[in-house]
Amino acid sequence: MEFKSDTDTEVLVQLVEYIMVKKNLPLVEAVQVALHQVIGAYAIAIIDKRDPRQIIAARKQSPLVVGIGKDEFFLGSDASPIIDYTDKVVYLEDGNIAVIRLDEGLKVISILGKEQELKVKTVDIDLGQIEKGGYEHFMLKEIFEQPECLMNCMRGRINVEGNHVTLSAMIDYRQQLLGAKRIVIVACGTSWHAGLIAGQLFESLCRIPCEVEYASEFRYRNPVVTKDDVVIAISQSGETADTLAAIQLAKEQGAFIFGICNAIGSSIPRATNTGTYIHVGPEIGVASTKAFTGQVTVLSMLALCLAAERKTISEDLYKQMVKELTQIPDKMEQALKTNEQIEHLAPIFTYAKNCLYLGRGYNYPLALEGALKLKEISYIHAEGYPAAEMKHGPIALIDSEMPVFVIATRDRLYEKVISNIQEVRARGGRVTALVTEGDTQIQKFADHVITLPDTPECFQPLIASIPLQLLAYHIAVCKGKDVDRPRNLAKSVTVE
Ligand code: AGP
Repeated sequence: MEFKSDTDTEVLVQLVEYIMVKKNLPLVEAVQVALHQVIGAYAIAIIDKRDPRQIIAARKQSPLVVGIGKDEFFLGSDASPIIDYTDKVVYLEDGNIAVIRLDEGLKVISILGKEQELKVKTVDIDLGQIEKGGYEHFMLKEIFEQPECLMNCMRGRINVEGNHVTLSAMIDYRQQLLGAKRIVIVACGTSWHAGLIAGQLFESLCRIPCEVEYASEFRYRNPVVTKDDVVIAISQSGETADTLAAIQLAKEQGAFIFGICNAIGSSIPRATNTGTYIHVGPEIGVASTKAFTGQVTVLSMLALCLAAERKTISEDLYKQMVKELTQIPDKMEQALKTNEQIEHLAPIFTYAKNCLYLGRGYNYPLALEGALKLKEISYIHAEGYPAAEMKHGPIALIDSEMPVFVIATRDRLYEKVISNIQEVRARGGRVTALVTEGDTQIQKFADHVITLPDTPECFQPLIASIPLQLLAYHIAVCKGKDVDRPRNLAKSVTVE
């Protein structure tokens, strides 16, 4: 057979056609034969123009959802674009094929042609949740809805007195979770940043050793995983190919897998032993905002549950921490009031070619997250760095052209961060600092100060993420960028 294209999708169509003609097979059987020869992940839908009343769809390691309407069907990589038309969907299982005929309806078969049970699910997504609701961009809407999202995330999990957390996974899988000798977190991008914060929580509150890994590295580096490990996979979309592969690897080595996802019914929750949804509603903006704070909230609740059960924190501290968590939505509302100030500051930074984000402790992952937000939507190069590491190299970059954003909220490392700010200032760096209300020291050294409500340091990233998201948003808008659909990026990274 002669290749007529080097695009994989086009090659596959040619292969199906070739098999149909050569073996005189109907389309569905030709697809089955062709897919036996295909290596790698795919989600495909094929129509033969000679029989347009039929669609054959198939998936392997890439998501595919079939929506069932009245005399019509829809295909998508997740349910959100479909719910405008129907709430009845079938999540196609890996390796299965959907045969859709307008006259006969939907049938699901295995790649060997065996008919499979049709599992129709009703999706519960409110249409209003995927509209902009008066905001100029989904990203801005999603930033502003975080207080409400976090209330939804905690609802039914934290009692009305606000002093106790119950996670159903903790009840159903108590033994497996409490038996963890080690926690390994796997995730990508923003979800990995949430994992870095959680890693600190699991170690400091629960005294469980924790490693946080990029799923894309973990899956290829032959890691040591044992049946005493609990592997936590974090993913907004629940479809990230590398995270799914990392889960698969950890499963094969006998680890217990806990998923933290947003998209209900997506592949990761289906591949894990148990987990907790973050329940922040569909996230449409490519830059993750409310999913990040939802993930950190669920991970905080999980850490508090484990710490209470393992008695690694006192009961009083546990209750106090739970209470503090319930106050986060109100404090986020306050943090959102910085929007106007940030909108005014944003034009100053549009000239920048490079920006630096500094933080320490729990705020270090947030520095990484702030830098990622700026990079992905404004295309300004940005680095997140642990503030004390500056003197080991990056401080050489500092000059008056370099905006430096420092998360300098009041915590154990506050005085040390002040020294780091002074080091930057001494080299002519322009400092914008995020500080705790009542702070009078930092304004002496910083060019701009953004004030945030006080909260325990482990929850500070939940509050301080707001101005960093707003900063990235307004800078990107000032630069005229397509905030919700940044170039070269996809919302779900279903390829490795
Ligand atoms: C963040 O703003 C990103 N667009 C990206 O880093 C994202 O967090 C990453 O691709 C992981 O996605 P997931 O949470 O859906 O697995």
